[in-house]
Amino acid sequence: TVGKSTNIAWYECKIGKHERQQLLKQKGCVVWITGLSGSGKSTVACALSRELYSRGYLAYVLDGDNLRHGLNRDLSFSAEDRSENIRRVGEVAKLFADAGVICIASLISPYRSERDACRAMVPDSFIEVFMDMPLELCEARDPKGLYKLARAGKIKGFTGIDDPYEAPLNCELVIQMKNGECSSPSSMAEQITMYLDEKGFLK
Ligand code: PPS
Repeated sequence: TVGKSTNIAWYECKIGKHERQQLLKQKGCVVWITGLSGSGKSTVACALSRELYSRGYLAYVLDGDNLRHGLNRDLSFSAEDRSENIRRVGEVAKLFADAGVICIASLISPYRSERDACRAMVPDSFIEVFMDMPLELCEARDPKGLYKLARAGKIKGFTGIDDPYEAPLNCELVIQMKNGECSSPSSMAEQITMYLDEKGFLK
């Protein structure tokens, strides 16, 4: 959408991203976790935040479900509102990354184009993580009973059932099952932490 504010300027502070990164001994970035409902996004986001905390790094989780209780409470699950949801979280994540924080965004974020738009906001520090769990598994888990309601027609437009999910084509990390088994949340968190370390986000 086109901005509606006119006659506005940008005021640059003397203390910038670089100074904050030195203070925190880490590089701010956005770890964007995408996947179906029930694929384990929130669990991995929290495990990653804990793993980073235990190593002395500052992370903050922006969880789709949680943000819909406040910042995004005015948004539904229509295509237009999901796009606005993702855009807003992308903008907030960008601010966190600029603040020097490792921002972990966990949202279904079903549309490739919207995720790419969030990537374009922080092009050098966007790590897209795909929770590549089969729909059947997510549905069998059904932690909130929402798939059951969707199958019964009591929720319309549920991702994976009667609403689309576009899997990433070229993301930084894919979390998959091995030999039909999921890894533990802490080992998934370790996998992401190793990646952040290798790419120089942790100092
Ligand atoms: S999105 O698509 O990125 O805007 O969704 P998100 O903000 O991550 O919110 C997903 C959580 O909302 C609950 N929920 C639904 N999900 C998908 N489709 C429909 N129609 C829907 N209605 C409610 C659901 O609990 C999602 O939580 P997670 O954590 O993904 O299971």
